[in-house]
Amino acid sequence: MFTAADFIPKAYSSTIESGTFEWSAPSNIALVKYWGKKENQIPANPSVSFTLKNCKTITRLCFEKRDASSVTNGFSFDLLFEGKSKEDFKPKIRKFLERVEAYLPFLKEYHFTIDTHNTFPHSSGIASSASGMAALAMNFMSLEKLLNPEMSDEYFYQKASFLARLGSGSACRSVKGNVVVWGNQANIERSSDLFGVEFPHAIHENFRNYQDTILLVDKGEKQVSSTVGHDLMHNHPYAERRFAQAHENLDKLIAIFESGNVEEFIKVVESEALTLHAMMMTSMPYYILMKPNTLQIINAIWKFRAETKTPVCFTLDAGANVHVLYPENVSKKVLQFIKNELVGFCQNGQYICDEIGKGAIAL
Ligand code: DP6
Repeated sequence: MFTAADFIPKAYSSTIESGTFEWSAPSNIALVKYWGKKENQIPANPSVSFTLKNCKTITRLCFEKRDASSVTNGFSFDLLFEGKSKEDFKPKIRKFLERVEAYLPFLKEYHFTIDTHNTFPHSSGIASSASGMAALAMNFMSLEKLLNPEMSDEYFYQKASFLARLGSGSACRSVKGNVVVWGNQANIERSSDLFGVEFPHAIHENFRNYQDTILLVDKGEKQVSSTVGHDLMHNHPYAERRFAQAHENLDKLIAIFESGNVEEFIKVVESEALTLHAMMMTSMPYYILMKPNTLQIINAIWKFRAETKTPVCFTLDAGANVHVLYPENVSKKVLQFIKNELVGFCQNGQYICDEIGKGAIAL
């Protein structure tokens, strides 16, 4: 298994002056949540997610060798979002470049133009950091592969996930599909705190093509960022118990994925979502990211499930939006329910239909 030291390249066997790559990387939805971290983006507990298919970031990277003399002037890049220069995104990218420079020592030798857009509406409350950082990491790995053509596929993808993690923790789960684990877990061989790995055990066909309909409840900026939220898990009164619970829930999911037990899946997933928000509510300072309509939707899902026995459940990210999860074979019924009973709780009636996907793709 790779260690961080393996991702520091010794020497490159080729040179390249200029070129362009383009990658798409999807968003992902965590089932067992990453919430709390140590130094250097090391998670406090393991997490597992479904990689999504439709919600993605598409990033083109153009690179051009700089004069040897300008290399001492730091990183050089332009950032375009939806075709227009976007200064406010630059500090985040600069921070990413600083964090990954030791692993990509060529970064200061090039001028980059990073041209990026999302397939989902901007400020929809859907975090683009996971897909965005993953797409950028893929592009940088393509460049490194030109410099070192002998690189194996395994190294390529695991290092891409490793770099994405340094940009945003959950991004390391957006490189591969369909189910990705990030963080050391005794019963999951090759699992690592350093990068995401494809879930290595059997997955019952009940979970194939699992659907995720994202209900956009509140599209505004969050009052408390995820970065601040993670930080509040330090000295949190329930942190240690919570981290232990994540391990327990991940073990439960191993058995659930194998057996196809959707009822047990629902229990783990909904409990994880509410626990995530319970951690926010019991932080100091405490805060609430759910909105009244988030609770309306949760209650409507519970009522519909009790009345119709349809195996539909919800999960939440660090925000007010609701991810409605269900097997493909009940999608007609669930979509009808969403249209009849849940759309009214969405901002401007907006929702996005997504499903499990395969991970990043070179375009
Ligand atoms: C609630 O990955 O956005 O979505 O590492 O600080 O960038 P940073 O945090 P981020 O945290 C996401 C947390 C979550 C749960 C999850 O995706 O596991």
